[in-house]
Amino acid sequence: MIASGHHPEEKRMLTPVTANQFHRPMGVGKTAPSLVTCARADGRSEELVVKFAGGCEAGIGSLLREAVAALMAADLDLPVPEPFLVQVEPDFVATIPEANDRYRLAKRNAAASLGWNFGSQKLPPGFATIAKGRPISQAMLPMAAEILAFDTFIANPDRTVANPNCQSNGREFGIFDHELAFRTEGILFWKAPWEKGGISFPKGQPDKLRHVFLDELRGSAPDFQRFGGAFDVLTEARLQEYQVALPAEWLQNEGDLAGILDYVRALKQNLDAAINNLSEALR
Ligand SMILES: Nc1ncnc2c1ncn2[C@@H]1O[C@H](COP(=O)(O)OP(=O)(O)OP(=O)(O)O)[C@@H](O)[C@H]1O
Ligand SMILES: [Mg+2]
Repeated sequence: MIASGHHPEEKRMLTPVTANQFHRPMGVGKTAPSLVTCARADGRSEELVVKFAGGCEAGIGSLLREAVAALMAADLDLPVPEPFLVQVEPDFVATIPEANDRYRLAKRNAAASLGWNFGSQKLPPGFATIAKGRPISQAMLPMAAEILAFDTFIANPDRTVANPNCQSNGREFGIFDHELAFRTEGILFWKAPWEKGGISFPKGQPDKLRHVFLDELRGSAPDFQRFGGAFDVLTEARLQEYQVALPAEWLQNEGDLAGILDYVRALKQNLDAAINNLSEALR
């Protein structure tokens, strides 16, 4: 269910499914991703949290970033729920009840999102949002460090103390919500994490800016050897597979995916420098 220790021959792609049955809106904001039962081509069903393009700040650009980040996280053996491509059709939208404002918002978002959307497999029972101030078990610290590294390296600002976008069952994490990752252009003073001074974690940052695992990891020297080595799977051929896996309609803004993939290439090329900067910044 969650990516871990998969063999190279069973590389994760984006499985296409069709949205069938609406359950309820999730989330608290404007995106209103929703719990939906979806059907695979072979008829098997999946419980997915579906993010509708029409509810996202940057529309399909947001879904593109979600999808690439999820594929990349899975390739790096980080605990991301399996990503799917979800076909939304008018018949499905028509079944969404208008029970309250949250439902109406979800329905509006879905109606504005006919075609392909992003889905992530619902985390199994037992997973809950990680609680603020609750210490992370010793056994989970190495994974917490890798998640912090992943977020820092893909420029994901959205896994903070205030909004963890991370659940746990006490033994494993599940990470989601990567729609703001890879946005490196137009951000004032942004520096690539591999550049000199590219990573800093100023003390006293507010909860909405501080990475959810920073307090636990600051002052430690995590071992990023496994994480660094995992980037070997992100070959040029694999990055091409990402492109093939994505719906053509998401690639109309040609620069979008090209920019993300160029960033991933540059990251891979400069990974040692990025890891050194990260270790330095955590000291
Ligand atoms: N794969 C998943 N399994 C279980 N719960 C999930 C999953 N994905 C998302 N959720 C839940 O749905 C909520 C909203 O999802 P997400 O964080 O991806 O969207 P969002 O853009 O933050 O939405 P909003 O802005 O409407 O809150 C999450 O905070 C989480 O509680
Ligand atoms: Mg979120």
